Amino acid sequence: MRTGVLASGRGSNLQMFIDLAQKGELPIELVAVGSDQAGAQALARARSAGIPVRVFTPADYPSPHTREESLLTWLQERQVELLLLAGYMRILGERFVQGADFPILNIHPSLLPAFPGLHAQRQALDYGVKVSGCTVHFVDEGLDSGPIIAQEAVPVLPQDTEETLSARILTVEHRLYPEAVRLLASGQLERSGRRVAERKSGSGH
Ligand code: GRF
Repeated sequence: MRTGVLASGRGSNLQMFIDLAQKGELPIELVAVGSDQAGAQALARARSAGIPVRVFTPADYPSPHTREESLLTWLQERQVELLLLAGYMRILGERFVQGADFPILNIHPSLLPAFPGLHAQRQALDYGVKVSGCTVHFVDEGLDSGPIIAQEAVPVLPQDTEETLSARILTVEHRLYPEAVRLLASGQLERSGRRVAERKSGSGH
């Protein structure tokens, strides 16, 4: 599946996809990495893997809408069949989401619908929850609000800081996100309204 990734920062999730795709352990081919940040480490990772990159700097466009139009056109030129958000720090507008003829997935470091938006791990600590985790979901026009594909919980420990909790969640992200992509790429996800289920076909059980 021709796959694009959007990332604004460090790019550890992107790196995980690069590694799995290179090893042939995931049925995706990374064909485009876009960012809103020219200095994002994610771009360096993509470049060294030989993946075409493009930066869409907000200041270069008259409006968010025109910026997203160029982004969508580029992804369509790259014939993207799946778009993965991996630490992309912007909400995609309605016209982008509705204009995209490919599924868009995101990973968020909380158990949605708890703690959407920025600093999800800090929000969880401040709230005092005992369990948090991460969520892979389809992207809609809202803030981390699309139908949920997969979730996994991690404990929140009394001595946790934002850094330790983030690290515990990130380890799970790197396992959960590719699992969700594998299900989607192999046509095993069934969507009915907000509910997404794994299709159990041909198992005979
Ligand atoms: C991850 O925690 C992800 O859940 C969130 O942003 C972070 C990105 O990390 N959406 P990285 O850039 O993939 O290392």
